[in-house]
Amino acid sequence: MTRNGIITGAGTGIGAAIADRLAADGTNLILVARDGARLDETARRLRAAHGIEVRTVPLDLSRPDAAAELEKHLAGTDIDVLVNNAAVAHVGTVADAGPDRIRATVDLNATALAEITARFLPAMLARGRGAIVNIASTAAYTPAPWNAAYAASKAFVLSYTRALAIETEGTGVRVVAVSPGAVETPMNPGHFRGKRSPEQVADTVVAALRGRAPAVVDGRLYAAQVFVFSRILPTRTGARMIGRFFARAARKSAAPQ
Ligand SMILES: NC(=O)c1ccc[n+]([C@@H]2O[C@H](COP(=O)([O-])OP(=O)(O)OC[C@H]3O[C@@H](n4cnc5c(N)ncnc54)[C@H](OP(=O)(O)O)[C@@H]3O)[C@@H](O)[C@H]2O)c1
Repeated sequence: MTRNGIITGAGTGIGAAIADRLAADGTNLILVARDGARLDETARRLRAAHGIEVRTVPLDLSRPDAAAELEKHLAGTDIDVLVNNAAVAHVGTVADAGPDRIRATVDLNATALAEITARFLPAMLARGRGAIVNIASTAAYTPAPWNAAYAASKAFVLSYTRALAIETEGTGVRVVAVSPGAVETPMNPGHFRGKRSPEQVADTVVAALRGRAPAVVDGRLYAAQVFVFSRILPTRTGARMIGRFFARAARKSAAPQ
């Protein structure tokens, strides 16, 4: 039986690694991101490696009409798997980021994810099968000063997904949030111990699709970190500690190279 999957933010990083894993299982893919040339390159590689069909949809998902455009573009195609992965982060204070960057972060990370899900879910429910994976972050579990809008948008993703997992119980549609910690991708360059690879996260996504949990943290180290920050430390203490980490990262990225 042919399966079709949408992956947003599929040209790089975690999205590209998830595309590889789904393609290896024979899922035909629709890849979405802004950079069409990079998507075409990924599509060529996937077709050659796995013999699947790949369509590319260059789209800025932070635009208010983007989710509707994606749905229109895919009219007549049954979607079996939806991976909402595209996101942006801005490390720095809210005041430094400014209103446009803050709005763009929320528009993409939260609004687009929520709307795309709402557009493709009803057909899955009608067919009694399908899966939606929303990529959140360990940042979803604690407020993050110097990365505030990103962490808040990921908290939205986590809460939305957990609620949806209950709404869809017994329908044949699987909904799960996967939260990576630090992963070696263009969003998070620079090596340090404990950093995970996009391929490891993709493996966690595949395992999460087969499991039953509504929310999964990628990697044992990050699962332990989330436990400490969300269940043991008072929220304000955890947020201050996370804030020190991002404030340092913000100073580093502002320093002359
Ligand atoms: N890397 C980490 O440490 C880490 C940790 C926790 C969670 N995550 C999450 O993992 C997911 C993937 O991130 P990544 O690390 O793989 O980063 P990445 O390589 O920067 O991937 C982000 C993807 O989103 C796409 N994108 C950005 N803005 C877009 C827009 N307006 N419209 C459509 N697509 C857009 C980008 O492609 P274009 O630029 O071509 O649009 C890119 O392919 C994100 O949800 C991120 O929050 C990452």
